[in-house]
Amino acid sequence: MDTDPQILKAALKASQIWWQDMGVDIPDLPPQPKRPAKQQAQNRKPSKVKINPQSQNPQSGLKDKIELATALAQSAPTLDALKTALDTFDAGSLSDHAKNMVFARGNPSAKIMAIGEAPGLQEDETSLPFIGPAGQLLDKMFASIGLGEDSLYITNVCNWLPPAGRNPSDDELDMCTPFITRHMELIAPKIIVIVGGVSLQALTGKTGIMKARGQWQELNIGGTKTPAMPLYHPAFLLRRPELKKYAWRDLLAIKARLEG
Ligand code: URA
Repeated sequence: MDTDPQILKAALKASQIWWQDMGVDIPDLPPQPKRPAKQQAQNRKPSKVKINPQSQNPQSGLKDKIELATALAQSAPTLDALKTALDTFDAGSLSDHAKNMVFARGNPSAKIMAIGEAPGLQEDETSLPFIGPAGQLLDKMFASIGLGEDSLYITNVCNWLPPAGRNPSDDELDMCTPFITRHMELIAPKIIVIVGGVSLQALTGKTGIMKARGQWQELNIGGTKTPAMPLYHPAFLLRRPELKKYAWRDLLAIKARLEG
Protein backbone atom coordinates (compact mmCIF):
# COMPACT_ATOMS: atom_id res chain seq x y z
CA MET A 1 0.00 0.00 0.00
CA ASP A 2 1.35 3.49 -0.90
CA THR A 3 0.80 5.61 2.16
CA ASP A 4 0.02 9.28 1.64
CA PRO A 5 2.87 11.46 3.05
CA GLN A 6 0.15 13.53 4.80
CA ILE A 7 -0.96 10.42 6.65
CA LEU A 8 2.60 9.40 7.52
CA LYS A 9 3.17 12.90 8.87
CA ALA A 10 0.02 12.69 10.97
CA ALA A 11 1.00 9.29 12.38
CA LEU A 12 4.49 10.63 13.15
CA LYS A 13 2.97 13.65 14.88
CA ALA A 14 0.73 11.46 17.08
CA SER A 15 3.59 9.19 18.15
CA GLN A 16 5.78 12.28 18.67
CA ILE A 17 3.19 13.76 21.08
CA TRP A 18 3.01 10.46 22.92
CA TRP A 19 6.79 10.08 23.33
CA GLN A 20 7.05 13.67 24.47
CA ASP A 21 4.33 13.08 27.06
CA MET A 22 6.47 10.20 28.27
CA GLY A 23 9.35 12.68 28.71
CA VAL A 24 11.51 11.19 25.94
CA ASP A 25 13.73 13.44 23.80
CA ILE A 26 13.48 12.66 20.08
CA PRO A 27 16.69 14.04 18.49
CA ASP A 28 15.70 13.94 14.80
CA LEU A 29 12.41 15.83 15.17
CA PRO A 30 12.11 19.62 15.00
CA PRO A 31 13.10 21.21 18.36
CA GLN A 32 10.25 21.74 20.84
CA PRO A 33 10.15 24.36 23.63
CA LYS A 34 11.64 22.81 26.78
CA ARG A 35 9.00 22.20 29.45
CA PRO A 36 8.77 19.47 32.09
CA ALA A 37 6.97 16.51 30.49
CA LYS A 38 4.21 16.35 33.11
CA GLN A 39 3.33 20.03 32.89
CA GLN A 40 3.36 19.70 29.11
CA ALA A 41 0.82 16.86 29.21
CA GLN A 42 -1.51 18.72 31.55
CA ASN A 43 -1.41 22.02 29.71
CA ARG A 44 -1.91 20.84 26.20
CA LYS A 45 -5.35 20.18 24.73
CA PRO A 46 -4.33 17.85 21.89
CA SER A 47 -4.56 19.55 18.52
CA LYS A 48 -6.64 17.54 16.09
CA VAL A 49 -4.87 15.86 13.20
CA LYS A 50 -6.74 17.07 10.09
CA ILE A 51 -6.89 15.34 6.76
CA ASN A 52 -6.02 17.04 3.49
CA PRO A 53 -8.63 19.84 3.08
CA GLN A 54 -8.49 19.41 -0.73
CA SER A 55 -10.69 16.31 -0.36
CA GLN A 56 -14.15 17.81 -0.91
CA ASN A 57 -15.85 14.62 -2.07
CA PRO A 58 -17.47 13.04 1.06
CA GLN A 59 -16.46 9.53 -0.05
CA SER A 60 -12.80 10.43 -0.63
CA GLY A 61 -12.95 12.41 2.64
CA LEU A 62 -14.09 9.25 4.39
CA LYS A 63 -11.39 7.19 2.68
CA ASP A 64 -8.75 9.68 3.82
CA LYS A 65 -10.09 9.58 7.37
CA ILE A 66 -10.02 5.79 7.44
CA GLU A 67 -6.43 5.81 6.10
CA LEU A 68 -5.43 8.39 8.69
CA ALA A 69 -7.15 6.42 11.47
CA THR A 70 -5.36 3.27 10.30
CA ALA A 71 -1.96 4.98 10.24
CA LEU A 72 -2.50 6.53 13.68
CA ALA A 73 -3.82 3.34 15.27
CA GLN A 74 -1.23 1.02 13.77
CA SER A 75 1.63 3.28 14.84
CA ALA A 76 0.46 3.22 18.48
CA PRO A 77 2.77 0.88 20.41
CA THR A 78 0.85 1.03 23.71
CA LEU A 79 -2.62 1.75 25.13
CA ASP A 80 -1.49 5.23 26.21
CA ALA A 81 -0.29 5.92 22.68
CA LEU A 82 -3.57 4.67 21.24
CA LYS A 83 -5.50 6.94 23.62
CA THR A 84 -3.34 9.90 22.52
CA ALA A 85 -3.93 8.98 18.87
CA LEU A 86 -7.71 8.98 19.46
CA ASP A 87 -7.49 12.30 21.30
CA THR A 88 -5.70 13.85 18.34
CA PHE A 89 -7.98 12.34 15.68
CA ASP A 90 -10.56 14.57 14.03
CA ALA A 91 -13.61 12.27 13.81
CA GLY A 92 -15.77 14.98 12.23
CA SER A 93 -19.21 15.48 13.76
CA LEU A 94 -18.50 12.72 16.29
CA SER A 95 -15.55 14.43 17.97
CA ASP A 96 -16.95 17.93 17.26
CA HIS A 97 -20.16 17.14 19.11
CA ALA A 98 -18.94 14.96 22.01
CA LYS A 99 -17.64 16.48 25.23
CA ASN A 100 -15.06 13.76 25.73
CA MET A 101 -13.43 10.86 23.96
CA VAL A 102 -14.37 7.70 25.87
CA PHE A 103 -11.52 5.17 25.88
CA ALA A 104 -11.90 2.25 28.28
CA ARG A 105 -12.17 1.10 31.88
CA GLY A 106 -11.12 -2.02 33.77
CA ASN A 107 -8.03 -4.17 33.82
CA PRO A 108 -5.91 -4.14 30.63
CA SER A 109 -4.57 -7.59 31.62
CA ALA A 110 -8.07 -9.10 31.96
CA LYS A 111 -8.90 -12.22 29.96
CA ILE A 112 -12.28 -10.79 28.97
CA MET A 113 -12.64 -7.72 26.76
CA ALA A 114 -16.24 -6.51 26.48
CA ILE A 115 -16.94 -4.22 23.53
CA GLY A 116 -20.09 -2.14 23.44
CA GLU A 117 -21.50 0.27 20.90
CA ALA A 118 -20.92 3.94 21.72
CA PRO A 119 -20.92 6.12 24.83
CA GLY A 120 -24.14 7.58 26.20
CA LEU A 121 -24.60 10.90 28.00
CA GLN A 122 -23.11 9.81 31.32
CA GLU A 123 -20.15 8.19 29.59
CA ASP A 124 -19.62 11.38 27.55
CA GLU A 125 -19.56 13.42 30.78
CA THR A 126 -17.05 11.19 32.57
CA SER A 127 -14.92 9.70 29.73
CA LEU A 128 -15.67 6.22 31.09
CA PRO A 129 -17.59 3.55 29.16
CA PHE A 130 -20.65 1.78 30.55
CA ILE A 131 -21.20 3.69 33.74
CA GLY A 132 -24.90 4.63 33.22
CA PRO A 133 -27.87 2.32 33.87
CA ALA A 134 -26.89 -0.07 31.04
CA GLY A 135 -23.33 -0.22 32.38
CA GLN A 136 -24.57 -0.97 35.87
CA LEU A 137 -26.59 -3.88 34.50
CA LEU A 138 -23.57 -5.06 32.48
CA ASP A 139 -21.48 -5.06 35.68
CA LYS A 140 -24.18 -7.11 37.45
CA MET A 141 -24.34 -9.56 34.55
CA PHE A 142 -20.60 -10.18 34.71
CA ALA A 143 -20.65 -10.27 38.52
CA SER A 144 -23.24 -13.08 38.28
CA ILE A 145 -20.53 -15.30 36.73
CA GLY A 146 -17.91 -14.16 39.22
CA LEU A 147 -16.26 -11.48 37.08
CA GLY A 148 -15.66 -8.15 38.81
CA GLU A 149 -13.99 -4.94 37.57
CA ASP A 150 -10.55 -6.54 37.90
CA SER A 151 -11.48 -9.42 35.58
CA LEU A 152 -12.80 -7.22 32.79
CA TYR A 153 -11.65 -4.66 30.27
CA ILE A 154 -14.51 -2.63 28.79
CA THR A 155 -14.61 -0.36 25.75
CA ASN A 156 -16.78 0.48 22.73
CA VAL A 157 -16.48 0.21 18.95
CA CYS A 158 -17.12 3.97 18.76
CA ASN A 159 -15.27 6.29 21.16
CA TRP A 160 -17.57 9.31 20.97
CA LEU A 161 -21.22 9.94 21.85
CA PRO A 162 -22.91 10.33 18.44
CA PRO A 163 -24.95 13.54 17.99
CA ALA A 164 -28.41 13.32 19.61
CA GLY A 165 -27.50 9.95 21.09
CA ARG A 166 -28.21 8.15 17.81
CA ASN A 167 -26.37 4.98 16.79
CA PRO A 168 -23.06 5.55 14.99
CA SER A 169 -23.51 5.47 11.20
CA ASP A 170 -21.77 2.89 9.01
CA ASP A 171 -19.26 5.53 7.86
CA GLU A 172 -18.51 6.50 11.45
CA LEU A 173 -18.01 2.87 12.40
CA ASP A 174 -15.66 2.38 9.44
CA MET A 175 -13.67 5.38 10.67
CA CYS A 176 -13.51 3.96 14.23
CA THR A 177 -12.65 0.39 13.18
CA PRO A 178 -8.85 0.88 12.94
CA PHE A 179 -8.84 2.07 16.55
CA ILE A 180 -10.86 -0.83 18.00
CA THR A 181 -8.78 -3.24 15.89
CA ARG A 182 -5.55 -1.91 17.41
CA HIS A 183 -7.21 -1.77 20.85
CA MET A 184 -7.99 -5.51 20.63
CA GLU A 185 -4.45 -6.25 19.46
CA LEU A 186 -2.95 -4.37 22.40
CA ILE A 187 -5.21 -6.06 24.98
CA ALA A 188 -4.99 -9.51 23.30
CA PRO A 189 -7.78 -10.97 25.48
CA LYS A 190 -8.67 -14.64 25.77
CA ILE A 191 -12.33 -13.92 24.98
CA ILE A 192 -14.16 -10.98 23.42
CA VAL A 193 -17.73 -10.26 24.50
CA ILE A 194 -19.59 -8.45 21.72
CA VAL A 195 -22.17 -6.29 23.47
CA GLY A 196 -25.12 -5.51 21.20
CA GLY A 197 -26.00 -5.46 17.52
CA VAL A 198 -23.98 -2.39 16.52
CA SER A 199 -20.80 -3.98 17.90
CA LEU A 200 -21.69 -7.26 16.23
CA GLN A 201 -21.85 -5.54 12.87
CA ALA A 202 -18.71 -3.48 13.43
CA LEU A 203 -16.63 -6.45 14.61
CA THR A 204 -17.94 -9.31 12.46
CA GLY A 205 -19.82 -7.66 9.58
CA LYS A 206 -22.89 -9.70 10.59
CA THR A 207 -26.29 -8.20 11.30
CA GLY A 208 -28.99 -9.52 13.63
CA ILE A 209 -28.09 -9.85 17.30
CA MET A 210 -31.34 -11.79 17.93
CA LYS A 211 -29.98 -14.69 15.86
CA ALA A 212 -26.28 -14.27 16.57
CA ARG A 213 -26.44 -14.08 20.38
CA GLY A 214 -25.20 -17.23 22.00
CA GLN A 215 -23.31 -18.32 18.85
CA TRP A 216 -19.52 -18.25 19.23
CA GLN A 217 -17.78 -16.15 16.60
CA GLU A 218 -14.09 -16.04 15.79
CA LEU A 219 -12.15 -12.80 15.44
CA ASN A 220 -8.67 -12.59 14.00
CA ILE A 221 -6.80 -10.36 16.42
CA GLY A 222 -3.29 -9.65 15.21
CA GLY A 223 -3.12 -13.14 13.68
CA THR A 224 -4.59 -14.90 16.74
CA LYS A 225 -7.98 -16.57 16.42
CA THR A 226 -9.99 -15.28 19.36
CA PRO A 227 -13.42 -16.55 20.41
CA ALA A 228 -16.09 -13.88 20.63
CA MET A 229 -19.56 -14.21 22.15
CA PRO A 230 -22.35 -11.84 21.06
CA LEU A 231 -24.55 -10.81 23.99
CA TYR A 232 -27.76 -8.82 24.14
CA HIS A 233 -27.01 -5.20 24.97
CA PRO A 234 -27.93 -4.41 28.61
CA ALA A 235 -29.88 -1.31 27.45
CA PHE A 236 -32.03 -3.69 25.37
CA LEU A 237 -32.43 -6.01 28.37
CA LEU A 238 -33.60 -3.10 30.50
CA ARG A 239 -36.44 -2.68 27.99
CA ARG A 240 -37.00 -6.42 27.48
CA PRO A 241 -36.28 -8.05 30.87
CA GLU A 242 -37.99 -11.29 29.76
CA LEU A 243 -34.94 -11.88 27.51
CA LYS A 244 -32.49 -11.88 30.42
CA LYS A 245 -32.67 -15.69 30.58
CA TYR A 246 -30.88 -15.84 27.19
CA ALA A 247 -28.18 -13.49 28.36
CA TRP A 248 -27.76 -15.72 31.41
CA ARG A 249 -27.19 -18.75 29.13
CA ASP A 250 -24.63 -16.80 27.12
CA LEU A 251 -22.84 -15.68 30.28
CA LEU A 252 -22.61 -19.30 31.43
CA ALA A 253 -21.10 -20.22 28.06
CA ILE A 254 -18.52 -17.46 28.50
CA LYS A 255 -17.70 -18.69 32.01
CA ALA A 256 -17.28 -22.29 30.77
CA ARG A 257 -14.98 -21.19 27.95
CA LEU A 258 -12.94 -19.06 30.31
CA GLU A 259 -12.45 -21.94 32.68
CA GLY A 260 -11.96 -24.54 29.93
N1 URA B 1 -23.87 1.76 25.78
C1 URA B 1 -22.74 1.33 25.18
O1 URA B 1 -22.80 0.55 24.24
N2 URA B 1 -21.59 1.77 25.63
C2 URA B 1 -21.49 2.58 26.66
O2 URA B 1 -20.36 2.93 27.03
C3 URA B 1 -22.66 3.00 27.30
C4 URA B 1 -23.85 2.59 26.84
